[in-house]
Amino acid sequence: MKKNIFSALLAISALLFLTACERPPIDAKQNGFRGTAMVDVQNPRIVAEKVKLNTIPPSTGAISGEGEKASKVYKNVKVLGDLSTAQFSTFMVTMTSWVAPKEGCAYCHNLENLADDSKYTKVVSRSMIEMTQNINANWKSHVQETGVTCYTCHRGNNIPQNVWFKSPPQKGGNMLGNLNEQNSASPSAAYSSLPNETYSKFLLASNPARIQGKDGLPNGNKHSIQATEEVYGIMMHFSQSLGVNCTYCHNTQAFSDWTHSTPQRAQSWHAIQMVKDVNNTFMVPLTSTFPKHRLGETGDVAKANCATCHQGVNKPLYGKSMLSDYPYLTKPATEVNAKTVAMK
Ligand code: HEC
Ligand code: HEC
Ligand code: HEC
Ligand code: HEC
Repeated sequence: MKKNIFSALLAISALLFLTACERPPIDAKQNGFRGTAMVDVQNPRIVAEKVKLNTIPPSTGAISGEGEKASKVYKNVKVLGDLSTAQFSTFMVTMTSWVAPKEGCAYCHNLENLADDSKYTKVVSRSMIEMTQNINANWKSHVQETGVTCYTCHRGNNIPQNVWFKSPPQKGGNMLGNLNEQNSASPSAAYSSLPNETYSKFLLASNPARIQGKDGLPNGNKHSIQATEEVYGIMMHFSQSLGVNCTYCHNTQAFSDWTHSTPQRAQSWHAIQMVKDVNNTFMVPLTSTFPKHRLGETGDVAKANCATCHQGVNKPLYGKSMLSDYPYLTKPATEVNAKTVAMK
């Protein structure tokens, strides 16, 4: 009898421990050549949930570009002037459903005068339209023909669900020594204790994420352990944002070697450059446009990372393109073009 109670307790405590794990069966797919152990492991039940969350919203379909241009009819149109009035007014409705479905037109507009620019949300949106056009036109190396719309990031929310701010300087020190911006379970390193300024280092500043050397000491690799941990941290973010393992991009016997890596790693390299462009060319210059309560603890603007678009899957919205109905989101405004070229 005692034995039974004991084994029942054991079974219950084992169950409690296992709640943090995922129940089998798990799908494993080979991703590289035979024998390279490049396996991508997915839980089919979690995948089913993700499929539900990553479907595209209903569309009005493509609207004719024939007829009078918006720039002729409206007073204060700076980026969407080439649209027909039919395209323009339909796009206003669609944009509302992507970004402010609860608040409606009033989220961006003074309803007494739609040409008025007094709401910051309207000024931000104009810049967001240019940013979207820039991503679709100038970063095909990453987004290919699939491209993005406001919905890719916003999904019906005023603020995309995945954005980042700089971390405030760490408190403490004294008895714990120099905390060195690490050991504090930060989302920027997938809640590990790795260094927590990885987004600023790799998705804003120009640093490449490279630490491996080809030669031995004394002339070879002089990177610190912390520098290695920073790269590890941003890689954890890549894996988590896309819902994939390291082996989706790397052959783990040679992380740095591009010839051993998958095409997805090269596509990711372009993603890193694209995210830096999005953050430096569009987000940071908007800092003073946002009200204080939208800024982070250090006064910086919310910025994009891989999760802003990907939201846990390898291709945002499972690679379904929405662009054919909104062709004007692929045409870069000439001034945006110039800004981006200057940055590269
Ligand atoms: C997410 C922000 C946002 C929402 C929501 C929004 N608009 Fe706009 N609207 C803009 C921006 C930005 C412009 C300016 C576009 C440009 O400069 O090319 C604009 C311009 C306009 C104009 C042109 C006004 C003029 O004379 O210059 C009209 C009309 C308009 N919107 C109607 C609407 C209607 C109707 C709705 C609701 C169905 C709506 N908008 C919802 C951002 C928004
Ligand atoms: C690459 C991802 C991305 C895309 C695409 C994108 N946005 Fe944003 N958007 C952001 C981020 C990041 C913020 C910053 C949020 C903050 O600072 O609070 C933001 C903020 C905004 C805000 C301010 C919301 C608020 O309440 O403060 C508006 C309005 C907005 N976006 C409209 C749009 C529109 C309209 C489009 C499409 C034309 C668009 N966005 C496309 C990432 C994106
Ligand atoms: C979605 C693709 C992707 C995933 C997933 C990924 N990486 Fe990376 N990794 C890259 C890219 C791209 C670079 C090159 C960055 C650069 O050159 O700036 C890189 C660089 C690295 C480097 C540095 C190589 C060098 O040249 O010094 C290491 C180490 C590394 N990754 C390890 C990992 C680990 C460990 C994981 C899993 C936690 C992982 N990566 C997941 C794409 C990925
Ligand atoms: C502006 C939105 C956006 C951001 C931000 C973004 N991506 Fe992507 N990514 C896309 C789109 C759209 C595709 C689909 C392109 C296609 O059809 O191949 C994609 C595809 C990919 C793929 C190919 C997946 C496959 O199965 O072939 C990889 C890998 C990838 N992204 C990595 C990244 C990494 C790493 C980051 C962050 C450094 C990132 N992405 C940031 C929009 C984005």
